[in-house]
Amino acid sequence: MNQFRQYVTDRLGRDAWFPLAESAGVPSENHRLDAVYPDEQIVALVLAASRLTGQPLNQVLEDFGVFIAPALLRIYAPLIDPAWRTLDVIEHTEETIHTVVRARIEGAAPPALLARRVSPTEVQIDYRSRRGLCSLAEGIARGMAIHFGEEVDVDQPECVHRGGERCLISVRLVEGRGEAPTA
Ligand code: HEM
Repeated sequence: MNQFRQYVTDRLGRDAWFPLAESAGVPSENHRLDAVYPDEQIVALVLAASRLTGQPLNQVLEDFGVFIAPALLRIYAPLIDPAWRTLDVIEHTEETIHTVVRARIEGAAPPALLARRVSPTEVQIDYRSRRGLCSLAEGIARGMAIHFGEEVDVDQPECVHRGGERCLISVRLVEGRGEAPTA
């Protein structure tokens, strides 16, 4: 929730949060980082941001994913192998990160991400969540790549919003970029 507030402030300006929260019918006071808020509140906020900016919902979600990725990497840095880059983090998110989030934050329900490294330069995520936030997942993947200075192509050969049984998200490293740093 705090992250979404920061996102709104970053993208829409300092004064945007209060009217946005009000139009979404969500309390605008400070929220705790480690608390879990009802899904409906986040959904209402994302819808309000989409209305306000005229951007489609999936674009707001994706942009929020890009925005939030560096904070996720920072907050959970102790769980992340410093040698990992974009595809490695995604490949290991389920067992090293989301599992810990589920155990530590009561009520948190990050999605089960079945990530498969189909080649050294591609990871495929089988995303199934009743929340249907595949655009957020796409954005997080892009945000991680920006953080690591890598270039990725992200697409979805299958998506529940297009009649699929699940969302299949493919993240491919664009060759010639993002080699392991020499440090
Ligand atoms: C440093 C890495 C990551 C951290 C620390 C992290 C942490 C979290 C946390 C705290 C939540 C909220 C859970 C809740 O309140 O119920 C969440 C949800 C989510 N995460 Fe992650 N995550 C990470 C990486 C990823 C990656 C790489 C993806 C996909 C590419 C991803 C996709 C999602 C999605 C889509 C949700 C929304 C909830 C849902 O769909 O049910 N996460 N994550």
